Amino acid sequence: MKNLKLAIQKKGRLSDKSIQLLRNCGLDIENFQDRLIVSAANFNLDILFLRDDDIPEYVQDNVAHIGIVGENEVLEKGLDVEVVKQLGFGRCSLSLGIPEKSKINSVNDLGNKTIATSYPNILKNYLQENNVKAKVIELSGSVEIAPSLGVADYICDLVSTGNTLKLNKLKKSFKVLDSQAVLIKSKIMDDDPELKILFDKLLGRIGSSLKAKKSKYIMMNIPKNSLARIIEIIPSLKSPTILPLSDKNLLAVHAVISEDKFWEINEDLKMAGASGILSLPIENIIL
Ligand code: PRP
Ligand code: ZN
Repeated sequence: MKNLKLAIQKKGRLSDKSIQLLRNCGLDIENFQDRLIVSAANFNLDILFLRDDDIPEYVQDNVAHIGIVGENEVLEKGLDVEVVKQLGFGRCSLSLGIPEKSKINSVNDLGNKTIATSYPNILKNYLQENNVKAKVIELSGSVEIAPSLGVADYICDLVSTGNTLKLNKLKKSFKVLDSQAVLIKSKIMDDDPELKILFDKLLGRIGSSLKAKKSKYIMMNIPKNSLARIIEIIPSLKSPTILPLSDKNLLAVHAVISEDKFWEINEDLKMAGASGILSLPIENIIL
């Protein structure tokens, strides 16, 4: 059987979380430090560690069949790959960074300025859409030092924690684009039935793992007579589990809920008489 080839970022913001996602999918990945290709011990998968900027091209050319990379790289390169899924990590924005003492009120203030960036295509499009003429300088790395070297007035770069800007006496001005990690695939990969089977299997596991991350398992005791009200409050996967307790007036209710609703639901549940509310993380959800 063939191996599916997945490209991930070798060193950077997405590296650890990409590996973590694969491990959450049950893949056994060992000793990947400083290696360029590693195979999963229990799945037909080779992981290629590459510069993130190169990933879209490798995937377009089907050298790597699939890849995990920032949406920003996919858009910038404009290559012929399919974006399969947003992965919910590596969230950041492509933003304008300006010297701490500068002030910008609107995108029009960029007129006739020089902006350094590793994302010239996205930036040029953005400027064009806003009818602003600025000079764009393309740098492949260390963009943040351009203003202090006098090479550019401003920069346009990815901002996540904002630490890189701060370290370079820059501040974030407005946002050009939101980005996060996405799963991409080559458009010809699934012409091969063996690879398609592997890909569908992996994609199913990724879906389960992402869904589980967004969910919580909750358990509580409730007075028997508030059951109807409690069921109304819980938007459970299917229907909640109801268990008898030794106290005849009480019931135990178990359910899976979406994490972002947890606190809101919690308060409603308490109002409806629920007590001893427990929540647990879920490893996987297979629907
Ligand atoms: C981006 C960007 C900054 C840093 C910003 O690099 O170029 O260097 O992240 O993050 P912060 O706001 O948390 O400090 P990226 O991880 O994409 O690596 P690369 O540019 O070297 O590919
Ligand atoms: Zn990069």
